[in-house]
Amino acid sequence: MVQAKASRGLKICCGVIVVLVIVAIVFTILALTLFKPKNPEITVYPQGLENIGLGSGGVLNASTINSTVAMVVTVNNRNYGTFKFKNATGFINYRGDVVARVPIQQSVVPARGKFNISTVADFMVERLIMNATFWADVLSGSVNFSSDATLHGKVTMFKVLKIHASALSRCDLSIFIRTRNIQSICKTRIKL
Ligand SMILES: *[C@@H]1O[C@H](CO)[C@@H](O)[C@H](O)[C@H]1NC(C)=O
Ligand SMILES: *[C@@H]1O[C@H](CO)[C@@H](O)[C@H](O)[C@H]1NC(C)=O
Ligand SMILES: *[C@@H]1O[C@H](CO)[C@@H](O)[C@H](O)[C@H]1NC(C)=O
Ligand SMILES: *[C@@H]1O[C@H](CO)[C@@H](O)[C@H](O)[C@H]1NC(C)=O
Ligand SMILES: *[C@@H]1O[C@H](CO)[C@@H](O)[C@H](O)[C@H]1NC(C)=O
Ligand SMILES: *[C@@H]1O[C@H](CO)[C@@H](O)[C@H](O)[C@H]1NC(C)=O
Repeated sequence: MVQAKASRGLKICCGVIVVLVIVAIVFTILALTLFKPKNPEITVYPQGLENIGLGSGGVLNASTINSTVAMVVTVNNRNYGTFKFKNATGFINYRGDVVARVPIQQSVVPARGKFNISTVADFMVERLIMNATFWADVLSGSVNFSSDATLHGKVTMFKVLKIHASALSRCDLSIFIRTRNIQSICKTRIKL
């Protein structure tokens, strides 16, 4: 009688251990896959920059280039946790020189959600139009810029687990003058 009880206790005990091990394995796999922090995808897209070099009559001078360009910064948070970041400034470079600053206002991007930030870039127009290389690019049919932005913030999982995270984004923007097309190719890295 006593022996039977003991063996039943042993069975229950072993069962519990097996279940715990399985649960631990499942959690580890989930932590390493589904819930592993993923890069937020950040894209920077100018609005109406197509008009660059297309002043009335195709004449380009300081008064026909608008120095303020509306920008949409889209943050695609692929994490199972919200991504909250602080105010930041993005930069637009032309052949390695900064030609515009893009203020990015602090926001919270929901878990597995996209968030658009509308902002305005202030271009240092003189720097561009005084530069012969810029005109050579315009005449060749395409002008290329790059943008850099770093968002400092944190990813919060299950409301309690907070991980500091910085998202570094770099985009290559190509403006094709004739077709008025803009191509934006972005790469984002997350630093925990
Ligand atoms: C700039 O171009 C506009 C028309 O496109 C013209 O009216 C204006 O006089 C030009 N300004 C200068 C400084 O050349
Ligand atoms: C310049 O851009 C701003 C915002 O994008 C717009 O409000 C303004 O009308 C534009 N000015 C000209 C001369 O195109
Ligand atoms: C972030 O920027 C907004 C507007 O640009 C400002 O109102 C706010 O105070 C800033 N927050 C911080 C923490 O600097
Ligand atoms: C034009 O821009 C390029 C790249 O920013 C720079 O290396 C070059 O010195 C500039 N030229 C002039 C005349 O400012
Ligand atoms: C964000 O902006 C892009 C491009 O302007 C647009 O296609 C997309 O629908 C917007 N998404 C949201 C959530 O507003
Ligand atoms: C800009 O980049 C595109 C590819 O994205 C390339 O085809 C084009 O030649 C480049 N233009 C200049 C002026 O470097």
